[in-house]
Amino acid sequence: MTEITQEILNGAFPEDFLWGGATAANQIEGAWDEDGRGPAISDYAPLWDHEAREGLDIHSMPPLNGVSRQSLQDRMEHPERYDFPKRRGIDFYHTYEQDLELMAEMGFKVFRMSISWSRIFPNGDDPEPNEAGLAFYDRVFDKCRELGIEPMVTLSHFDMPLHLGMEYDGFMSRHTVDAFATYCETVFKRYKGKVKYWMTFNEINHVYANLCTCNGVIWDEPEGGGNPYAGRWNDKFQAAHNMLVASAKACILCHQIDPDAVIGNMLCRLENYAESSKPEDQLQVLFEDHFNWFFTDVQAFGEYPYYIKRFFRDYGVDIKMEPDDLETLKEGTIDYVSISYYMTYIMRYKGKESPEPSGSLLTQIKNPHLEMTEWGWPIDPVGLRITLNHIYDRYHLPIFISENGSGIAIEPDENGRVHDDAHIEYMKGHVEQMHQAILDGVDVFGYAWWGPIDLVSSGTSEMYKRYGQIHVDLDDYGRGSGKRTRAKSFHYYKKLIGSRGRDLENNVPDDFEI
Ligand code: BG6
Repeated sequence: MTEITQEILNGAFPEDFLWGGATAANQIEGAWDEDGRGPAISDYAPLWDHEAREGLDIHSMPPLNGVSRQSLQDRMEHPERYDFPKRRGIDFYHTYEQDLELMAEMGFKVFRMSISWSRIFPNGDDPEPNEAGLAFYDRVFDKCRELGIEPMVTLSHFDMPLHLGMEYDGFMSRHTVDAFATYCETVFKRYKGKVKYWMTFNEINHVYANLCTCNGVIWDEPEGGGNPYAGRWNDKFQAAHNMLVASAKACILCHQIDPDAVIGNMLCRLENYAESSKPEDQLQVLFEDHFNWFFTDVQAFGEYPYYIKRFFRDYGVDIKMEPDDLETLKEGTIDYVSISYYMTYIMRYKGKESPEPSGSLLTQIKNPHLEMTEWGWPIDPVGLRITLNHIYDRYHLPIFISENGSGIAIEPDENGRVHDDAHIEYMKGHVEQMHQAILDGVDVFGYAWWGPIDLVSSGTSEMYKRYGQIHVDLDDYGRGSGKRTRAKSFHYYKKLIGSRGRDLENNVPDDFEI
């Protein structure tokens, strides 16, 4: 619980506040087949570049990561037809020292990253781990510690070994739950004392959006065509249940193996507003909120919430459980809540007393009061304060903002400088509202900007959408020198961290150092 001191009343953040940034292995590491790493489903996520998107409604884009078995097979049999940027990332596997040094220069206290499961167990379920993979993360964590940066590690960030997806349908199978537990046990033992903050599954609620990199479920296309995902609520919730059990097992193992470490969840937080004052619109907010809270409710309270039972009844969901699953869920609860927060959503009544989750993580109805990013994501800093209050009120657990940021199309000017004022304005607004939430009494213990270094987009696999305070000279096709330079927001974030959040003015001189 944060003590509200005079300094905090005057605008500072707590002294031990964890400022930093967040990444994911499949979006930065590259080296997809080096040193014994096995293939992951994300290695088959093709590029959807901005030219291909030209003129298309962003909302109509197919979920690139949520592939059917048939399209995955096509990608495997005809790799020459595709470009797979996640295989090369930004080459962090080889550049991690320099990249972490730049983050330390900004004053980072925390670096959120993920372990690539198939770097440790190439097939996901091998009898022995891959020593070269384990050694890589030793080097990364040691470097973090040397620089005074706390590593915060996601066990699975849209990361499923291909073998477990193809052979077992990922988390549809209990085999994957067991393999995940073995993987967790291995990394908890190996990195005990080096890693104090863990989290289980990134944005676990992507299960609704058919993201097979998240749950590893590879769907067969129905005979005669059509949408392979539509209406398969039983399968989706079976996979979700298995992931929740796997998450609980990870919490139990973490607590047993390293009592000094803590472990949290990770929810893509969807804060919803009603479109109008019509009670039915408000009811729709309640429905969508339930679908969003569902995962964290199970992970924090250790049991299935009352409201999901009606959905299961109405949609014929009948989850198969092992005899001790409910006990595992009860025992394996999280120590803190972590969220990604990018935007808010507008809800309009859909005319159903018991609706399905929308399944979309893109907002469908425009909020006339908010500006949007080029990628159609509404910018809503006040929504962050609202959502932090809602979460704290519900769980009374410390909160870590494990992702917040804004992807923009920006390139260096003729002098090599990236004037990314849009990143600065986005950060300023959200940090201000986070401070308000702390004054409200919410226990927020850290903030990680998504993509402190430019990385491959999760949704589209492009580089063109840039988040970084550190610019990386690589384009969508991996062309470029790979050189890292300091963007304007690098200097802004550095002085913001240095002032413990007090100095929010965007007054970085135009001739900043790169
Ligand atoms: C979150 C993911 O959903 O959003 C990240 O956890 C992702 O992996 C981020 O990169 C931004 O999305 P995108 O598609 O712009 O990379």
